[in-house]
Amino acid sequence: MDRIIDITELALRDAHQSLIATRLGIDDMAGACAELDEAGYWSLECWGGATYDACIRYLNEDPWERLRTFKRLLPKTPLQMLLRGQNLLGYRHYQDEVVERFCQKSAENGIDIFRIFDALNDLRNIESSVRAVKKIGKHAQGTISYTVSPIHTTELFVDQARRLQDMGIDSLCIKDMAALIKPQAAYDLVKGIKAACGPELRLHLHVHATTGVTLVSLMKAVEAGVDCVDTAISSMSLGPGHNPTESFMEMLEGTGFTTRVDLERVLRVKSHFMKMLGRYSEFLSQVTGVDTEIFKSQIPGGMLSNMESQLKQQGAGDRMKEVLEEIPLVRRDTGYVPLVTPSSQIVGTQAVLNVLMGRYKVLTGEFADLMLGYYGAVPGEKNPEVVKMAYEHARKEPITCRPAELLKPEWEKLRAEALTLTGCNGTDEDVLTYAMFPQVAPKFFATRHEGVRNLGKDPDTGESETQPAEGHQGVITGPITYSVTLSGRQHKVTVAPYQ
Ligand code: CO
Repeated sequence: MDRIIDITELALRDAHQSLIATRLGIDDMAGACAELDEAGYWSLECWGGATYDACIRYLNEDPWERLRTFKRLLPKTPLQMLLRGQNLLGYRHYQDEVVERFCQKSAENGIDIFRIFDALNDLRNIESSVRAVKKIGKHAQGTISYTVSPIHTTELFVDQARRLQDMGIDSLCIKDMAALIKPQAAYDLVKGIKAACGPELRLHLHVHATTGVTLVSLMKAVEAGVDCVDTAISSMSLGPGHNPTESFMEMLEGTGFTTRVDLERVLRVKSHFMKMLGRYSEFLSQVTGVDTEIFKSQIPGGMLSNMESQLKQQGAGDRMKEVLEEIPLVRRDTGYVPLVTPSSQIVGTQAVLNVLMGRYKVLTGEFADLMLGYYGAVPGEKNPEVVKMAYEHARKEPITCRPAELLKPEWEKLRAEALTLTGCNGTDEDVLTYAMFPQVAPKFFATRHEGVRNLGKDPDTGESETQPAEGHQGVITGPITYSVTLSGRQHKVTVAPYQ
């Protein structure tokens, strides 16, 4: 008997986030749901920070309503979300009660599996979410944010896996957001984790396709004992996205491994999204094909094109190469943090500032916070000189506790603030939307009654129901802009999330 390898399909979340800036409208997904639900996937990833953000920022769509729609259309297959631990789907740490309420509401509205990660791999930032998910009887998947550095050995990741297992997770995911995991590394890591944690701990592997090596990494992970892999339907795959589901399935022939997924149904899903994708050509990522230079900078493709356009706006378009060389140095000074939201933006922005204004002449508040421990503990040793500069800049003491310990109960305050907003419906779901996106939520609440905006265009006439409200940037949504004034000149640097 062939051993079964499970598949998580990414079409409804990460795939369109990576390829068309998270703009896929619910109308354009609904038609594929019946086939997706019957196809035999282990889970369907359909919710996360960028989809939530894009819903309220661009699509005038209530993300909670989207989730309920998915649950209605996909009653059989477990629904999965990506959760940034203590940051929830936002960009700061939230107090534990807010974390608990968020998990509870997400479960009530349809989420079955919570994939929980922390950008720094500080497991203390994952604990509250895991506890909250366990409390409501849902599946808590612990996550290792994969990265490559002189200190990130297989042993270090295996130790992390063991600590997550001790925390009581239901399964574990190795999350390689920038396509850095090479085949042999994948094999060694899966073998190492299985040996240390036992075969009973389910192990999943999430990889992107950007560097061109990771379909082989998936095969090596299968040989080493991985239980489930993440792929995307072929018509929404590759480039900065993921490996194609059908290719993964075909690749297993004759290997002693197989899947439960029905290829006929998958091919119908493929045709559906092939038609849909054409409607979003204006949002299509410019990063296509393969990019192996990411192995050096570790900056994912989508973020790269965004930084490039920002540098151009500063009249410094020719300095991209310097920025790319600066990023690894800044990352070393932080103690080799993995680069994923929000650490990718923080390190990327600081590298831009270092190139434009001189190394550490100007620090962003976020970078200072990172150096002073306000995002959590970093994997390695921080450069003490830079920590000192961060202290002088921010005038805050460095901390070593779990950052959320410093937060006072905030739910009632957030609730009171949300209730003053025009159009807020008073539900906990709306309070959470305001809590996580305080800048975007007021406008969304006020316009929600106008209904969902679909940004897809008819490929023949080029017409869409509504024009996009704001320009898009690469494959990313929710850009963060930093303003820095130096010698009377204002510099704006915008870097956007990627996960
Ligand atoms: Co991803």
